[in-house]
Parts: sequence; C-alpha cells; structure tokens
Amino acid sequence: MIKARDFVEKIKPYKPGKPIEEVARELNLKGEIIKLASNENPLGTSPLAIKAMRRVLKESFLYPDDNCFYLKEALAKKLNVSSDEIIVGNGSVEILPLITLAYLNPDDSAVVTKGSFIWYKIAVSIAGSNLIEVPMKDYTHDLKTMLNAIQNNTKLIFLDNPINPTGTVVKRKELEEFFDKIPEDILVVVDEAYREYIEDPDYPDSFKIFRSKKNILILRTFSKIYGLAGARLGYGIARKEIITNLMKLRISFNVNRISQIAGIAALDDEEFVKKAIKVNNEGKEFLYDAYKKLGLFYIPTYSNFIFVDFGKDSQIIFEALQREGIITRTIKEYGFPNALRITIGTEKQNRRLINTLKKIL
Ligand SMILES: Cc1ncc(COP(=O)(O)O)c(C=O)c1O
Repeated sequence: MIKARDFVEKIKPYKPGKPIEEVARELNLKGEIIKLASNENPLGTSPLAIKAMRRVLKESFLYPDDNCFYLKEALAKKLNVSSDEIIVGNGSVEILPLITLAYLNPDDSAVVTKGSFIWYKIAVSIAGSNLIEVPMKDYTHDLKTMLNAIQNNTKLIFLDNPINPTGTVVKRKELEEFFDKIPEDILVVVDEAYREYIEDPDYPDSFKIFRSKKNILILRTFSKIYGLAGARLGYGIARKEIITNLMKLRISFNVNRISQIAGIAALDDEEFVKKAIKVNNEGKEFLYDAYKKLGLFYIPTYSNFIFVDFGKDSQIIFEALQREGIITRTIKEYGFPNALRITIGTEKQNRRLINTLKKIL
C-alpha cells in the first residue's frame, strides 16, 4: 500500500449539505425539492451578476486575470482598503489552508471554538499543526477562555462571526477589547460570511480594527447574500505583508473569469441585497414564531439560518424531512446531535417547512 503522510490520515473530510440532484436520485423523489441545508440565497443569484456572466461566457477560452485586478479594485473602493490588502479565493474556504500553511509550523497551534465552522479544523490539519478547542459559552465564542487558552506556540485564532452553526455573534465592544489583549504576533481570522445580513449597530466594525491593528484577517464571501455559492467566490482582507504571503501559496488562476465578472456586478446589486435582507428578516420572524408554537428550542440568529434543537436525535427528523423533499443539515459533527441547522427560505419554502414539521412531529 502506498502510505500517505501521517497528518493526511488524521484529516476528517468536510461533509457538505446534500445537493438536490443527489437526494432526488437516492430517494427517487419526483416533486419539487427545496434545499435549506447550505445557507444559500433562496432568492437565487443576483440578476446583475447573471447578466454580466452571460456577457462573458464566450470569453471562457481565455485564462482569467490571475490577480483579479478589476474585482479587487471594485472591492477596494467599496471597502475603503487598498487592492494589495485583498486576496480573492475560489470561495472563502480556499483561503483557510493558505492561512494555516503560511503561518503554522507543525509545532504551532491554532485556537478555535469547539463546534464552530469545521473548515478551520481541517485547515489546521492540512498544515499538520495542533488545534486548541475552547467550548462555547451560551452558544457563542467565549473570548475570555480563548485568551487564556493561548500557548507560547499559538499563531492563529479563528472566529466566525456569526458562528456557523449557531448563528450567534460577539459584539463590537467585546471584540475590540479582545484585540486589545491579543499578542500582536497572533493572527486573528474574523470570518464574516454572513455580514451583509446584519443590521444590528452593535455588530463589530472589523474594518475599524483593521485600521488600528496589524493582526486581523477579515474573510467575506459572495456565496451568501449575493447568491453566488456555485460560482465559488470569496475574499480576505489583511495587511499587505500577509496578503503577499498568501498569494505565494495560491494556485495560479484560482478564480475563474466568469466568477470575477459576476462578483464585480453583484457588488452593485443593491436592490437584490436589500430584498434578500428583507426576505431573511421576515422569514426569521415567521420561523421564530412557528418554532415557538411547536415547542422547539431555537437560537435567535444573525445569519440566514437557524439552529433548531429537537430534544432528541435529529437524524430522524432530518430523514423524515428529506423524504418529504426538504433538505436540512445535521450538525452532529459539530457536537450537536439533537439539532438541525436550517436555512431561512422564501415565504413559501418556510411555510412548507413548518407544515411538514407539524406533520412529522
Ligand atoms: C462561517 C463560514 N465561513 C465560510 C463559509 C464558506 O464560504 P465560501 O462559500 O465562500 O467558501 C461558510 C459557508 O457556509 C461559513 O458558514
């Protein structure tokens, strides 16, 4: 047998939400299937992005711009940073192993919250480094304990804000105080995949921290509010020295030509973003009320999904919903065997979800 390197054996692969086609095939389902498993935008893709992608399809024979010049320029203008402070990835997850490979030696460690986005763990194992897991407190990051968990060999901290799968956040003051206490030679990755959905003025201004501290890397994505999960497009913002290092580890042409154009157009699609926020907020209220009436524990969310606890093994509920054509997400591997993470859908999808749950429960 050809033996892989030891650390490869230890990597537990990521298990994504099931694609609609797979569920239809496996369960031989004929009716309309709805996917509430991967926190995609139920409204679809930004119409401006679709128009732009159509326009450039015929240019697919050409390699893309390796440096994403125009997309970086558009992002730099929107976010008030410089182009050389941006790295674009084939989804924001692509940037995670670049970070661990650039900053973790095998003897180093990274601090993460146990039960937060699982890709941080995978990225740390890809570098063959050590993981320090800190339990959540009230379903969110326990920043004080994370600070205390830092060891001499700690080089990275990962914070998803909101946390996937609980949907909770750390607030502005708390995060700023955290950065005041973190040693400057530890890079803190603040993953804001759902940022655009958040209207709470108490949500942290990570760009304010970026202007005053050298050790923050902000991650954002086009997968959620812009409806471009299938195009694979995300980005990271950090000091130029950090971005230069990450760019060295990236594979050439990592972001395709069509997605770059889609991203530029999507950034201008204010109408679509506004509509997505509205539908998400209305969905939230409807679902909170429905879960309450069903006697289910749920966590109020800052994102486009809700953590719902069924008080018993949720696999049964997951399978029953799936047989009815509704795909949700079990989160056993995050340490929550009784809960499901369910994306907020359109009004029609949410109603179908609740009616089906009433039947099942
Ligand atoms: C916290 C968090 N970060 C990153 C991602 C992945 O984003 P992308 O599609 O840009 O790779 C997700 C997707 O679910 C997420 O929940």
